[in-house]
Amino acid sequence: MNPKRRVHIVGNWKMNQTLDEIKKFFIDLSKSRSEKNCEAWIAPQFIHISIVKDLAFTTGNVMVGAQNASHEAKGAFTGDISPVSLKDMGVHFVIIGHSERRAFFKESDEILNKKTLLSLSNDLKVIFCVGETLSERDSGQTMEIIKSQLNHGLKDIPKNREDSLLIAYEPVWAIGTGKVATPEQAEEVHAMIRSELKKLGFDSEKRVILYGGSVTPENAEGLLFKPNIDGALVGGASLKGESFVKLLEAVR
Ligand code: PGA
Repeated sequence: MNPKRRVHIVGNWKMNQTLDEIKKFFIDLSKSRSEKNCEAWIAPQFIHISIVKDLAFTTGNVMVGAQNASHEAKGAFTGDISPVSLKDMGVHFVIIGHSERRAFFKESDEILNKKTLLSLSNDLKVIFCVGETLSERDSGQTMEIIKSQLNHGLKDIPKNREDSLLIAYEPVWAIGTGKVATPEQAEEVHAMIRSELKKLGFDSEKRVILYGGSVTPENAEGLLFKPNIDGALVGGASLKGESFVKLLEAVR
């Protein structure tokens, strides 16, 4: 972390949580001392966005987002969710390009770029995800893969929208595996991402870059200690209120 940038702890609930589990999460969260030194964001399933927004409103200090958004604003796209509707529902942010979307739903760089531009133009914050697979890391292609994902995914972002852009570095081999990147491995990639953002014309010192992949309350502190790691995108360890609170406390 760096005092120039606000730390963000973002829970990506993926396709998890029942209504009872969500209510329990917020009861646990409400018992904690609210952390003012960082941003707490949650991305539930689309269908739970409204209820999570209501609960988050009562607890305070939690912003609610979506895990995906359509590349089109409206029309015949059965099953898709428009960024226009997300904004309309009071959604704060959207995660674009998560490796599960890239792998299972075959989302291409071109589609991800469209999703990013459309979400930004609808005043949503965008967490744009990048990351290499294990075989790409093992064959020494990590930096090249991530540069390519950034170059394609962030094409044509208007200058006046860049403040709404966050990046998440999520090595695919670390997601849901319990095999977290070491703080040194993550910092090396984060520093490269920042310099690449600069080359792409962004105000790179201001851009928040999150790390994701098997982050837990136990390993968060070591990661957040690094100068280019500005927060975490957390799956498994964000599902329980108690654990999410510990992640927020790790920032302190
Ligand atoms: P994980 O997931 O924390 O369960 O590894 C992170 C993510 O996919 O965003």
